[in-house]
Amino acid sequence: MSFHLKSYLTEKQNLVDHELADILAHETNAPTILLDAMRYSLLAPGKRLRPALVLMASRAAGGSDAQALPAACAVEMIHTYSLIHDDLPAMDDDDLRRGMPTCHKKFGEALAILAGDALLTLAFQVLAERLPAKSAAMCCFELARGSGAAGMVGGQVEDLAWERANVGARAAKDPLFPRTEQPQSLDALEHIHQHKTGALFRACLKLGVWCAQGERPNGPDAALLQNLDLSARNFGLVFQITDDLIDVEGDAASAGKRVGKDAAHGKLTYPGLLGVSESRQRAESLSQQAIAAVRQIGDAAEPLVQLMDYVLKRDR
Ligand code: IPE
Ligand code: IPE
Ligand code: MG
Ligand code: MG
Ligand code: MG
Repeated sequence: MSFHLKSYLTEKQNLVDHELADILAHETNAPTILLDAMRYSLLAPGKRLRPALVLMASRAAGGSDAQALPAACAVEMIHTYSLIHDDLPAMDDDDLRRGMPTCHKKFGEALAILAGDALLTLAFQVLAERLPAKSAAMCCFELARGSGAAGMVGGQVEDLAWERANVGARAAKDPLFPRTEQPQSLDALEHIHQHKTGALFRACLKLGVWCAQGERPNGPDAALLQNLDLSARNFGLVFQITDDLIDVEGDAASAGKRVGKDAAHGKLTYPGLLGVSESRQRAESLSQQAIAAVRQIGDAAEPLVQLMDYVLKRDR
């Protein structure tokens, strides 16, 4: 089957960017400075991989881009809010994101926190407003579950708790986090990564299927959902392993963010625990598992196969 990932991604980036700009343009009753901060981070040149996954899952489920576009935009809003907050001084304390100064460097901490809050809430507004009732309800549910306390936010808490328990200087700043030394283990690492990063990827694929098939009398194909979820679990880990590797081996010019910070902060990462080459091997084997699961869907899943392969080799 002839499918060109690069041109597909460029086309979908344009589609999503246009829609995101349009959604913000409709928020006319909000303070201008808040909208400026939201637009600054949301329309910055991110890779838009999560929206692409939503659209690809919708296609694998027989749906159209138009059906899934609201969900594609909603996940990008959640993702962007998580990046704005992740970069704050109280969290990873970064000054560069998507090749630009971080939101708090540009607008100040208070406005960055509030721009994140507003993107988080706008995501659910978009789903509720723009999807048919049953799909809207299930997309809200799955997105909340993936991004909330038992998903991404919980993973972020554990990422920081682990770091602060293990690096004295930063721990001292933060009395709320436990200081007891925690053992480094692959289980702890996978748990953090599955939550802080993997949970939102799992939600992306589910949302795509719900957009395509949510209004069927019996709901979406359960086997398809299960198959994509198995794939997403492996893919989410691959994504964060490669993110950890970029921090060790990459450069800020390509990555669009600072590198070499994870070890300095005492983060629990794959290269930190297993070393670079074993991390890469692990990413490759998890990627093969992710791809094998989606291949079972057939030709309609070819875009997912190619995206999963591409992520393994990325440098940004
Ligand atoms: C970065 O995500 C944050 C992680 C979960 C590792 P991306 O690498 O997808 O960031 P953008 O959206 O392209 O900026
Ligand atoms: C971020 O992980 C995960 C979320 C934003 C939820 P990282 O802290 O590793 O992401 P980067 O490296 O800053 O993009
Ligand atoms: Mg972080
Ligand atoms: Mg970070
Ligand atoms: Mg990182």
